[in-house]
This record gives sequence, C-alpha cells and structure tokens, in this order.
Amino acid sequence: MFALNFVFCIIQLISIINRTNLENVCLDNLVLTCYCEDDTSFVSCTGKNSIKDSFVDWAPFVSANHRQNSFTFYNLTRLTYLTFTNFSSTFHLHGESIDLTFINGVDEIEENAFQSLHEYSDSSIEIKFVSPQNFKLADYAFGHGVYYEIDIDSIQYSHIYKLPYQLNLKSMDGARFYQMTIRNCGDMEFISNGSSTIELLEIAVSNCSLTNSSLLIESISTDLAGLDLTSNHLIALPSLENFQNLRGIDLKNNFIEEITVNIFNNMAGLSRLDFSNNRIRNIEPDSFVGLRLAELNLDNNRLTSLETLTLDNQTTSFLYPLNESLTLLVISNNFLHDLSPLKHMTNLDEVKVCCNQIKKLDGNIFEKAHKLKSVDLSYNQIESIDSMTFNGTIINNLNLAGNRLSSLETKESVSSNKSLFENQTSSFLYPISSTISSLSFSNCTNLIEINWFIIIKLQTLFYLDLSEVRMTEKSWLYRKTDVNSEDSSINWNYPPGPRIILYGIRLTDNDYCLTKSIVDILNKTILIVDIEHPCNCFIYSYDTEHRPICVYNQSVVDELILICHSPSGHHYLLLAPRRKPLASRQ
Ligand SMILES: *[C@@H]1O[C@H](CO)[C@@H](O)[C@H](O)[C@H]1NC(C)=O
Ligand SMILES: *[C@@H]1O[C@H](CO)[C@@H](O)[C@H](O)[C@H]1NC(C)=O
Ligand SMILES: *[C@@H]1O[C@H](CO)[C@@H](O)[C@H](O)[C@H]1NC(C)=O
Ligand SMILES: *[C@@H]1O[C@H](CO)[C@@H](O)[C@H](O)[C@H]1NC(C)=O
Ligand SMILES: *[C@@H]1O[C@H](CO)[C@@H](O)[C@H](O)[C@H]1NC(C)=O
Ligand SMILES: *[C@@H]1O[C@H](CO)[C@@H](O)[C@H](O)[C@H]1NC(C)=O
Ligand SMILES: *[C@@H]1O[C@H](CO)[C@@H](O)[C@H](O)[C@H]1NC(C)=O
Ligand SMILES: *[C@@H]1O[C@H](CO)[C@@H](O)[C@H](O)[C@H]1NC(C)=O
Ligand SMILES: *[C@@H]1O[C@H](CO)[C@@H](O)[C@H](O)[C@H]1NC(C)=O
Ligand SMILES: *[C@@H]1O[C@H](CO)[C@@H](O)[C@H](O)[C@H]1NC(C)=O
Ligand SMILES: *[C@@H]1O[C@H](CO)[C@@H](O)[C@H](O)[C@H]1NC(C)=O
Ligand SMILES: *[C@@H]1O[C@H](CO)[C@@H](O)[C@H](O)[C@H]1NC(C)=O
Repeated sequence: MFALNFVFCIIQLISIINRTNLENVCLDNLVLTCYCEDDTSFVSCTGKNSIKDSFVDWAPFVSANHRQNSFTFYNLTRLTYLTFTNFSSTFHLHGESIDLTFINGVDEIEENAFQSLHEYSDSSIEIKFVSPQNFKLADYAFGHGVYYEIDIDSIQYSHIYKLPYQLNLKSMDGARFYQMTIRNCGDMEFISNGSSTIELLEIAVSNCSLTNSSLLIESISTDLAGLDLTSNHLIALPSLENFQNLRGIDLKNNFIEEITVNIFNNMAGLSRLDFSNNRIRNIEPDSFVGLRLAELNLDNNRLTSLETLTLDNQTTSFLYPLNESLTLLVISNNFLHDLSPLKHMTNLDEVKVCCNQIKKLDGNIFEKAHKLKSVDLSYNQIESIDSMTFNGTIINNLNLAGNRLSSLETKESVSSNKSLFENQTSSFLYPISSTISSLSFSNCTNLIEINWFIIIKLQTLFYLDLSEVRMTEKSWLYRKTDVNSEDSSINWNYPPGPRIILYGIRLTDNDYCLTKSIVDILNKTILIVDIEHPCNCFIYSYDTEHRPICVYNQSVVDELILICHSPSGHHYLLLAPRRKPLASRQ
C-alpha cells in the first residue's frame, strides 16, 4: 500500500514537472506575455499595464500548430484596432469557435478593436469580459462584426467611481450578435450619441439596477427573439410591439407596477412572459390582445383581482384574450379572492394560485379546461369547496396544503330535499377520482376528519400528504357517508396502494387502537413518517426506506392488544409507542 502511494507520488511529481515544462512563453512583447501548453488550445496572456502601447504583433507567436482558439487575457487595459491587427494571419481558425476572455483590466476599447477577427466569418466568436474596470466603449468599438456571444460580467466602474456606468450603445451600432449578456454591473444606464441599430437575437441585461430600458429597446433591431431584463429597477416598460419575432420576455425581479395596452399587443409569436416578483397592481384588460401566450407568470405581485369593470359595467379580464392559448398560469403570492375568469380558459395544463386570499371555490371554476392536470391552491384560506369545483378537468396533482378545510366532504348541491338526503354527501374529489394521483392536505390544521370513505374511491391515488395535520380521534374514524353508494370497497388501482405521508405528525394514545376498517385501509398503504419520529413506531412493517426501524416485540404487542381490546371487540392495533411505562412493565 505504502509502496503504491509512493509510486503515485512520483508519477504526480513527474506530471507536475512536465506541465511546467510544457507551459512556455509563446509571445512576449511590450503589451503582453502569453503562455501556452503545446498540447492544448488554451493560451493565457497577462497585460503589462504600465505600457500605453496597444500594438501586438502576433506573428512571432511560438507554437507547434497555431490552432489555439481559447485566449484568456489578464489585466489588459486597452484594446485598440492594433491589438489584434494580425491575429487572423497568425492563427488559422477558420470554421472553429474562437473564445476570448478578458479578466480584470479593460479600461477602454477603441473603435474597431476586433476588426481582425471578422476575417473569421465562418467561425463563431465569443468574447467574455469579467470584471472590466472603466470599460469605456468608443463608438463602433465592436465594428461591423458578427459575434456569437458577448458576455459582460461585473463592470467595476460604478463601484470605483460611485457613479452609474454608462454603456455606450453606439459601440455596437451596426454589429450583429447572436447573444449578449450584461450582468452584475452595479448602477448602469445606456447612452448613445444619435440612434444606434444593433442586431441581436437574444439579449439579457440582469442585475444592473437599470431604471429605464427605452434607449436599449429603441436600439435593438426588430429580429430580437429573446429579451431578459431580470433583476433591475424597472418601473415601466416601453412598447415592444415592433418585435414581432419575440418568443419569450423575462422581466422578473423588477418594480413594474402596471401592464398597459400597447406594450405587447399583437405580438403573435410571443409565448412566454415572466413578470414574477414585481409590484403589479393593475393589468389593463386589453394588454394581451392578439397574443398567443402559453405561459404567464405573475407570481408575487399585488393583484387583488383578475377582473376589471369596463365603463359600461361589463366584467372583463386581461386573461380573456388568452382563453385558448394559455397552458401555464402562475398567480401565486398575490391578493386574489376569486378565480372566475379561469372559467373561460380552454387550454390550461397547470395553474398555480398558492398564497392568495381565496376563501371559497365555486362549482365548475375550470369549466372548459379539459386538459387541466395540475392545480396548486395551497396556503389560501379555503373553507369550502363545491363538489363540482374540479368538474370537467383531469387533475392529477392537487395541492390544498395550508387551507382551512375541515372535511373532504361537500354537501350535495343538487339535493334540496333535507328529509330524504339528510346524510347524503359528496366530495369535490369525486369528479377527479379516476385521475388524481397526488393530493396534499398538509398543514390543513382544521381538517378534523380524514374522510377515508372518499379516499378509498380515488382509483389512481399515489401520494396523499397529510403532514402537519392534527390527528384526532376523528382522523381515524371510518364513516360510510354516501347513502347512495353501496360500494365501500377499496378502489385503489395500484397495489400496494398510495403512500400516505405523515411528516410532522404527533401520534397520541388515540392512534394505538384503530377500527378494523381503518386497519384494512392502512394495511393497503405505505405510511411514510419522519425518519427521526419522536416517540412512536409502527408495528406493521412494509418495505419502504422512510419507515422507522421498529423492533418487533411480541410482548409489547400483546400488551397493546389487551389495552385495545374494547368491549365491542372491533378494535385493532396499529401503532406501538416506544414509551417507558410499557417497556418497564415487561
Ligand atoms: C492583475 O493585476 C492585479 C492588481 O492590479 C494583480 O493583483 C494580479 O496579480 C494581476 N494578475 C495577473 C494574472 O498578473
Ligand atoms: C503583423 O503586423 C506587423 C505590423 O503591421 C507586420 O510587420 C507583420 O508583417 C504582420 N505579420 C503578418 C503575419 O501579417
Ligand atoms: C448583483 O450584482 C452585484 C454587483 O453589482 C453582486 O455583488 C451581486 O452578487 C449580484 N447579485 C446576484 C444575485 O448575482
Ligand atoms: C456625436 O456624434 C457626432 C457625429 O455623428 C459628433 O460630431 C459629436 O462630436 C458626437 N458627440 C459626442 C458627445 O460624442
Ligand atoms: C427613459 O429614457 C428616455 C430616453 O431614452 C426618456 O425619453 C424617457 O422619458 C425615460 N423614461 C423615464 C420613465 O424616465
Ligand atoms: C355601474 O355600476 C355602478 C354601481 O354598481 C353605478 O353607479 C353606475 O351608474 C353604473 N354605470 C353604468 C354605465 O351602468
Ligand atoms: C375565447 O375568447 C374569444 C374572444 O373573447 C371568443 O371569441 C372565443 O369564443 C373564446 N373561446 C372559447 C373556447 O371560449
Ligand atoms: C360538469 O362538466 C360538464 C362539462 O365538462 C358539464 O356538461 C356538466 O353539466 C357539469 N356538471 C355539473 C353537475 O355541473
Ligand atoms: C322530500 O322527499 C320526501 C320523500 O320522498 C317527499 O315526501 C317530499 O315531498 C320531498 N320534499 C321536497 C321539498 O321535495
Ligand atoms: C345520518 O347520520 C346519523 C349519524 O351520523 C345517523 O344517526 C342517522 O341515522 C343518519 N340518517 C340517515 C337518514 O341515514
Ligand atoms: C404550516 O403553516 C404555518 C402557518 O401557515 C406555517 O408557518 C408553517 O411553515 C407551515 N408548515 C409547513 C411545513 O409548511
Ligand atoms: C394485512 O394484509 C396482509 C396481506 O395483505 C395480511 O396477511 C394481514 O393479516 C393483514 N393485516 C391485518 C392486521 O389485517
């Protein structure tokens, strides 16, 4: 073993020596020194920033093949048209991707600094600037070139001078970029001496404290397909109607207060809009006219209603124009009371309405959403759900966590004859009993009864989350409540039945002795409890990894059976406590 380690050490030592030998100086002049390894395509150069000179003669570059295509420049402060002047005659990179990274340094970039690169018209050119300092961009700094990607990260200017960095759009006038990313630049604003036209397919300006995007938007040619202005300080938006090729717009984490008409109108190709984490209070009803949006994210805004009254007292909604296109709607974390406009949506697949102020769900709220599969209504204040609320959908994932429901039963709305149907109840789960597979009531602390008679009818149920529910005597009660239904057999399709999740549940003495019906039901499920469940353990053992390890102790069981044996003789044992008194009595 020792000998083997020793051999490894020697081998490592040799390879380290080799590497330092391989990394040789391949270019040295007044401006920079470059280091290469013969067998890789990476070159790293360090600027000698005491020198004002910017001319680099690349011809003396010492290298086996001149196929290096990835260059990292440290501390190079000034780029002019002389810096790369005969770069392309030295490196034969036609058809290959060319990758230039500038780390630190970069105080200024003069006109046509990358001109030589444009001879590689068949290559994709990527330029990254990491922590450039002053980053003063001259007009036409990027010339009329075509770039695959420009990535500008952490411009230091505003941190050094405590003034907003001014990005000169004229530096890019006439150039073409497939993708441009500008991020983490402290305070920034755009400037341009006269109008600029930048051809861009995708642009992202994020985390730059941008307050006004007008000049940027005006300067971008109309081919733009993706716009991302995440994490800025935008309050309002200019019209984007000219960008008919835009597919997605990301405006999350800004201070936008309102969406008005004439920003997005008739952008027929737009399919994704993300406005999450803004301050939107109002969306004018015609804002999305002519759009075919598939995804709309309004998470964490200040909407109090999805509806607006028109001047002639008609109810309307900004969602109406999207009635046939929208598949994903996120309106979590607002102040909504009502979901009426969703009645008109036909193409919904997923709706997220977590954390609003909904108290009641009426019948058929997703009347036309026949493809609706996933609904998150968690953390509202829902007390009542009509038995027909989810009628017409094919929901397989329903999250009702953190609501105020007290029962899964609903009064049968069709029944008005009290004397006859006194006990006839139904459930909002019945219309989705053949599709629901994941159901959460976790943290529904008012849920005093788990209506097992309803649960056993949910044929495809796979997950039932009852975490943080307060277990009471009623939780383990089996009541056959639907007098019309003779069928009280368990309908679960997939043996071994659903996983019932019971995280954060405290079991009490009530939970030791359960009726035969409940035991029969639980015998067909997998119970999942906290790995470190405090004081109980389950006697039935199934093969799931989440179950606590329980030492099966027949004498403890016998004792509990005695305790559980009620006069009626119908009580069975489910759970065994790991309690001192019982153990000591053995
Ligand atoms: C770049 O300059 C900074 C200070 O200006 C220095 O600390 C750093 O070592 C330099 N980097 C290289 C690779 O020479
Ligand atoms: C590189 O540029 C210098 C100065 O313009 C010139 O002397 C040299 O011949 C050029 N080399 C090549 C390979 O073009
Ligand atoms: C935003 O940019 C600042 C620098 O201006 C940086 O310190 C911060 O980490 C960035 N935030 C994110 C989330 O990237
Ligand atoms: C703006 O551009 C014009 C020519 O287009 C030029 O004469 C003028 O000096 C420029 N102004 C600034 C501040 O660069
Ligand atoms: C944004 O900047 C443009 C000039 O580019 C100006 O006309 C407009 O008033 C500015 N908007 C705001 C809200 O300051
Ligand atoms: C709209 O309704 C309000 C109150 O409900 C009423 O005062 C107003 O006159 C109505 N306006 C029209 C145009 O009907
Ligand atoms: C969607 O809304 C449009 C216009 O409001 C209407 O003409 C169309 O019938 C609606 N589609 C459905 C399926 O309700
Ligand atoms: C359930 O929805 C269907 C259409 O999906 C509708 O025809 C039917 O009337 C609804 N049932 C009730 C009781 O509302
Ligand atoms: C309720 O049902 C009973 C028994 O069928 C019948 O006699 C009574 O008239 C019904 N009441 C109403 C209000 O329909
Ligand atoms: C209704 O339920 C109660 C107990 O919950 C029971 O005593 C009563 O007989 C039931 N009535 C009918 C009509 O089933
Ligand atoms: C349960 O709900 C309470 C109050 O709404 C909340 O503070 C707590 O974090 C929730 N617990 C879980 C596990 O989500
Ligand atoms: C649970 O089910 C298994 C087989 O499905 C059966 O052997 C066992 O007796 C059942 N336990 C109880 C307590 O019903």
